[in-house]
Amino acid sequence: MSSFDPRQVFPRRKPGATPAPLSALSIYNPAYLGLDARGKRVHVTLPYRNILIGGEPGAGKSVAQGNFVAHAALCTDVDLILIDGKIVELLPYAPVAKEFVGNNMPKALRVLKDLQADLDERYLHLARNGRKKIVPGDGFRAKLLVVDELAYFTVTVGTKEQQEEFRVLVRDIVARGRAAGIITIASTQRPSADIVPTSLRDLFGYRLAFRCATDSSSDIILGTGWASQGHTAVDIAPEALGVGLLRAEGGFPRRLKTAHLKDDEINQLVRRAAYLRRAA
Ligand SMILES: Nc1ncnc2c1ncn2[C@@H]1O[C@H](COP(=O)(O)OP(=O)(O)OP(=O)(O)O)[C@@H](O)[C@H]1O
Ligand SMILES: [Mg+2]
Repeated sequence: MSSFDPRQVFPRRKPGATPAPLSALSIYNPAYLGLDARGKRVHVTLPYRNILIGGEPGAGKSVAQGNFVAHAALCTDVDLILIDGKIVELLPYAPVAKEFVGNNMPKALRVLKDLQADLDERYLHLARNGRKKIVPGDGFRAKLLVVDELAYFTVTVGTKEQQEEFRVLVRDIVARGRAAGIITIASTQRPSADIVPTSLRDLFGYRLAFRCATDSSSDIILGTGWASQGHTAVDIAPEALGVGLLRAEGGFPRRLKTAHLKDDEINQLVRRAAYLRRAA
């Protein structure tokens, strides 16, 4: 009888079992978003950035946003604050989120006010230390605020006053969060001025546009004038789900196809993230 037992060398994992832990990531590591037109990997480093994602219904916004959330979930140095009016897109990440808000305007406002208070504290720390931005050794954890379907909170649910308060809070968090280690990613189908005030929209340094019906919709996401220079999300075929144009601060829009995490991959990833976060 041979003493070689392949099960000892390649132990079979039970389906659904938590995979062997890898070392945790840091939010300061670049997040993988997808592949560009030449097949080159596209990464985005999230700290000191805010990202606005737009495009037609079903074009790939939540999937794109999911890549950033998945990356952040595996990073033990960032707290996730997830706001999702539709509930289902970000719910899988709720077990590893510091805060998860579904279609609940009062809770959304409470969570944003806490974040604003945290911002004040961070700026006080910076002022006391004569510095301009929070860095990893400062003792403040990074925070990632994700709002899926911004329009839901700015025009659909709640009273006019609550919607206005929501807009003002998000504006402040986006404006001051950058240097304070608070990252915001927001998505919405069409970030026109009635949904995202121009003064808020202009604060997002990174823009990701999925398929749009018109050049003007594409320009609203990417910035005025890009369509006339040939960079328009109208060119994306309706069946090209997950294909979008990413514009980084000051750069040209770059075409890419996002990675698409399937539900079971997300569940497995969240189990690993929960393990890593507990261990940390
Ligand atoms: N990169 C991708 N690769 C393959 N399929 C994708 C990709 N991105 C999106 N899809 C497909 O498109 C569907 C819709 O994507 P997603 O939910 O991200 O759209 P959305 O823009 O958020 O839509 P909505 O405005 O309705 O929220 C996904 O369920 C998936 O099947
Ligand atoms: Mg969506």
